Amino acid sequence: MKDAAPTTAPETFYLKDYKPFGFEVEAVELTFKLAPNSTRVLSKIRFAPKENAADPRFFLHGEALKLISAKIDGAPVTPELIAGGLICDTPDTPFTWEAEVEIDPAANTALEGLYMSSGMYCTQCEAEGFRKITYYPDRPDVMSTFSVRIEGNEKVLLSNGNPTGSGDGWAEWHDPWPKPAYLFALVAGDLVNHPDSFTTRSGKDVELNIWVRPGDEGKCAFGMEALKKSMKWDEDVYGREYDLDIFNIVAVDDFNMGAMENKGLNIFNSSCVLASPETSTDANFERIEAIIAHEYFHNWTGNRITCRDWFQLCLKEGLTVFRDAQFTADMRSEPVKRIEDVIALRARQFPEDNGPLAHPPRPEQFQEINNFYTATVYEKGAEVIGMLKRLVGDENYAAALDLYFDRHDGQACTIEDWLKVFEDATGRDLSQFKLWYSQAGTPRVQVSEDYADGRYTLTFEQSTPPTPGQHDKAPRVIPIAVGLLSPNGGEVRATEVLELTEAKQSFTFDGIAAKPVPSILREFSAPVILERETTNAERAFLLAHDTDPFNRWEAGNALATETRVSMVTEGAAPDGAYLDALEKLVRDDTLDPAFRALVLSPPSQSEIAQSLHDRGVTPDPQKIYDAAETFAQTLAQQLETSLPRLYAATTVDGPYQPDAHGAGLRALNGRILSLLTRLDGGEQAARQYQAADNMTQQYAALASLMKAENGESQSQAFFDQWQSDRLVMDKWFALQVACAAPDAAAGVASDLTGHALFDMKNPNRFRAVMGALAGNHAGFHHVSGAGYQLLAKNLIALDSLNPQTTARMCAAFQTWKRYDSARQALIRVELERILATEGLSRDTHEMVSRILQG
Ligand code: BES
Ligand code: ZN
Repeated sequence: MKDAAPTTAPETFYLKDYKPFGFEVEAVELTFKLAPNSTRVLSKIRFAPKENAADPRFFLHGEALKLISAKIDGAPVTPELIAGGLICDTPDTPFTWEAEVEIDPAANTALEGLYMSSGMYCTQCEAEGFRKITYYPDRPDVMSTFSVRIEGNEKVLLSNGNPTGSGDGWAEWHDPWPKPAYLFALVAGDLVNHPDSFTTRSGKDVELNIWVRPGDEGKCAFGMEALKKSMKWDEDVYGREYDLDIFNIVAVDDFNMGAMENKGLNIFNSSCVLASPETSTDANFERIEAIIAHEYFHNWTGNRITCRDWFQLCLKEGLTVFRDAQFTADMRSEPVKRIEDVIALRARQFPEDNGPLAHPPRPEQFQEINNFYTATVYEKGAEVIGMLKRLVGDENYAAALDLYFDRHDGQACTIEDWLKVFEDATGRDLSQFKLWYSQAGTPRVQVSEDYADGRYTLTFEQSTPPTPGQHDKAPRVIPIAVGLLSPNGGEVRATEVLELTEAKQSFTFDGIAAKPVPSILREFSAPVILERETTNAERAFLLAHDTDPFNRWEAGNALATETRVSMVTEGAAPDGAYLDALEKLVRDDTLDPAFRALVLSPPSQSEIAQSLHDRGVTPDPQKIYDAAETFAQTLAQQLETSLPRLYAATTVDGPYQPDAHGAGLRALNGRILSLLTRLDGGEQAARQYQAADNMTQQYAALASLMKAENGESQSQAFFDQWQSDRLVMDKWFALQVACAAPDAAAGVASDLTGHALFDMKNPNRFRAVMGALAGNHAGFHHVSGAGYQLLAKNLIALDSLNPQTTARMCAAFQTWKRYDSARQALIRVELERILATEGLSRDTHEMVSRILQG
């Protein structure tokens, strides 16, 4: 029953080897007889052989299944069980395949297929989990209708589509929309619902439910509002209506990812749907709204139009991330969302694209597809769509999307299909643009300028460093949004989009009275690294005057990085001009508080490490940490007289509301509080902790106090108050590690793994501790190597239980080549130790080998 361990390197799958399945699947009927250790799954599937099939073999995937019986057209058959599935002789004409298998959901700690979480049954089939439920062509280009019967004693029995009947101990569902198996879902448990309804624009009533464990019903209202807003938005902006009578969302405690878009039955990590003011922060509320939208939007971009194969993953994920970002921008603030996304892109995607795990948004090979749900596929995949929209314009984008939905509804598609609708809608040749899908690596764009006789010239040169398996890179199409400012701050040229297509290319602007200050890559119009020789004075000018809010923030971010770098490399003091500029901005009440909070948030220490590495300096994590501390301390002193007033001015009165404006104020208030705590030793934070009636303020106060090593009593109080709330306890676990000093972080994390409430089988809890360790830059990279050792030890322990989560967390080591040889040697030992583990999963094997080789 257990998966065999790879003895040699696992099999590699290639995009170029794609062959369609040799049979049509006309209808699938499934019966589940639920039992924790011995669930029986009966399948009855109508297959029709295709004429001239490229691969006529009848192969069904299957993993960890006990085959009880198999029949074709009612007669028993004996299929041959082979690696990863079975093969069987079949008639040349349409036939009915029936099989009965037994599976063990209670023993399923990998959380793929059918498993149990807090006493309920649930499923996770994407990408290749359905093969752990029954024998089936488990590939996204095989689409069929599903009818499901569930037999079990649980109060609630759910599957995809519309309910067709139920009685004591059973329920039946039918999903009329053909779908791939990865969108199958089943949930059974003693759940309670938060019901609502939505009327579509064509007047159809849809029943909506959020299903949770008893006790959580008070945490559903926000998610439900987010769902209704998403449904309305997709109608208004993309003209897409919902297509079933019912839409169910279920919250589960044990889940590898954030959430899953199963047709009509979305399954959510409880952390991504349950929300209340007392237990969730503003950041949680924003994330919940976005992820509910994301999974809902998949109904059209993913479900109605799905992927031909998993190499095309960004077809649905890049597009759906792009759509959920548009939604969040519309619901909240467009510039703030853009800045947040670029921060995330640089924190997660740039390291990936510039290290051993670099791969194109459409990879051409994989060993384990779960390892390719990456920042590159998702975030860069979304950036590519943003560039496409910028290049063709909003109207053409809308026309291309209409064509995409018209032409491909009900199909399993490729990136070629996607680009073709843009070519057909606009007449544009996108062959060069397509390189964005096949080339890995972040382009570097060098800019130089020239001004003479009223003519201003910008010259761009692009190049992309080699990435694993890809050495020569061709120039790409790069949309560069540029505006020009006059030296006294006015805009002399509004934003226009320059299309860079050559390795080197110049653009001229005539009739410019005085040498302008350029604002380049406005709105971060392309996911590139801009290299330009400029001065801090010019950056400060842009920080004060740029009309593009993104570039305004960007100028501040560059100044922050520059000063941090010179503090580390030259022992310089924090840059006075930058401190002055920050002070001015923070006190400028005309600016959006959320924007001010972002300007006040320093670049991460990992980002500074990358910056140093890019400049040829080996980063010393301890020095980067010290510089961050010194900078924050100096800023606090500079702002000393204004902090109390700013604190008061940003305190939101009245009952907590998770709206964008209040959240922005609280974010700024939290930044102020952390600075204030450096001066008053935590007096204000302690008062705020006492008075807080919402998690955002309680958490901000606790974080400030713990950072100041003065929060022991509050940390204990927090634990006492929330110990029976798992999601809040995840915050508590993470905060202990995140706030620990560099030399203490590994010890704190290690102690927490021995805590009575630590549970390695729960991905949220494991990530709370180990993710926080990896995120504590100076702690993880402490010269003792204790951070590396602890993470490796825990990854090895988790691997046999949950390969998917283990493999994802290996990415913490992907930046290892940035650091000094002593640290590299320490990391290498740990990576090799992981790789040498007997029975290592193919997920983790692939990740660690790639990190070592790159
Ligand atoms: N389809 C994915 C969930 C998924 C990922 C299933 C990997 C199986 C393997 C879902 O639509 C998704 O993308 N979820 C994201 C959140 C989203 C807001 C980007 C997640 O779970 O992190
Ligand atoms: Zn998705």
